[in-house]
Amino acid sequence: MAILPRPPARNVHRAGEALVRHSILGFALLLLSACARSHESVPVVPVRVTLPMKSETLRLVLTSDLHTFGGPKIAGGIAKIHAEKPLDAILITGDNFHPCGVSSIDEPLQWQYVLRHLSPLGIPMYPLLGNHDYGNPKKRFFWTRICGDPNPQAQIDASRVVPNWKFPARNYVISTAVADIVMTDSTPVALDRSEPLRGSASADAIRAFTREQLALSRGKFRIVAGHHNIRYSGKLRMKSKPTRTNMDAFGELLTEANADLYVCGHQHQLELIVPPDDAPVMLISGASSRPKPTEQLSRRDEYSKFVSGFPRRGGGFAVLEVSRTWFRVTFYDRSGKAISRPFRFDRIENDRLRFTPE
Ligand SMILES: [Fe+2]
Repeated sequence: MAILPRPPARNVHRAGEALVRHSILGFALLLLSACARSHESVPVVPVRVTLPMKSETLRLVLTSDLHTFGGPKIAGGIAKIHAEKPLDAILITGDNFHPCGVSSIDEPLQWQYVLRHLSPLGIPMYPLLGNHDYGNPKKRFFWTRICGDPNPQAQIDASRVVPNWKFPARNYVISTAVADIVMTDSTPVALDRSEPLRGSASADAIRAFTREQLALSRGKFRIVAGHHNIRYSGKLRMKSKPTRTNMDAFGELLTEANADLYVCGHQHQLELIVPPDDAPVMLISGASSRPKPTEQLSRRDEYSKFVSGFPRRGGGFAVLEVSRTWFRVTFYDRSGKAISRPFRFDRIENDRLRFTPE
């Protein structure tokens, strides 16, 4: 008996081949369009805001990493210091929302720590974005993995509705009579991104912005703020090596551009580092919500002058005061009690700094 071919089966086979061909074509087109989108460059448009001072000395609270419900913890301490001598502003150097940032203003559980605890202090807040505000990005071979669906722009847009929340752009400059503070979006820098990340500028554009703004600043202290630390005490983890390399390079840029002080968080501790060779003084204030216990800080950076962790229920922040000829840093616990002496830096000849512990 002859076995005849079975036309319907061949049709099914052809249909299957066509489906595979279309799928491959579709995937390739999708990949191409994603690549084209990801290489759209977003430049840094210089944004400058003026911060008026309440006296001849600028007074700022420095805090960061409030994402694990730090607002209620430190609000009382900030209020106490503000009552003793008025503060001009609170700098919040990133990791504002946990664990994957926010996608809109319409997330009451996330925003309540700002609205209920920090806004009522009546002190302007100047934030930055941290890695968690970008969904804690991690490089994985050819792509970057992020968590959630963060929309960093929502934090900037919130300035219109959240009292005292003043977030004009991802990169901006706060200009005062005694200091210019260059606020930088350090997550793309830490990843050395060549293409935008959720609407960010590239690392090159941010580095160029930082260099240009520092060059424009004359006769004032030159302060740079970012989320990621450059140096720090504590465990050196292998997985954060690329971040350390990229931030070390950013530190070299700051030295070449004559920055006086770099302010950051990311590490959940309070620390002051005074490196040699005209590198900027480095101040970490990341212990406001979930501080590191002191035993995690047993590896001490060789230039560290002060470092503090806290027990689980503790925490703290820093106060930076800047006059025309000096700036000084004091560390406080969450209740507003000083836990360090003031560390003072005087401007001396040739635009250099002299460290004078008071
Ligand atoms: Fe962080």
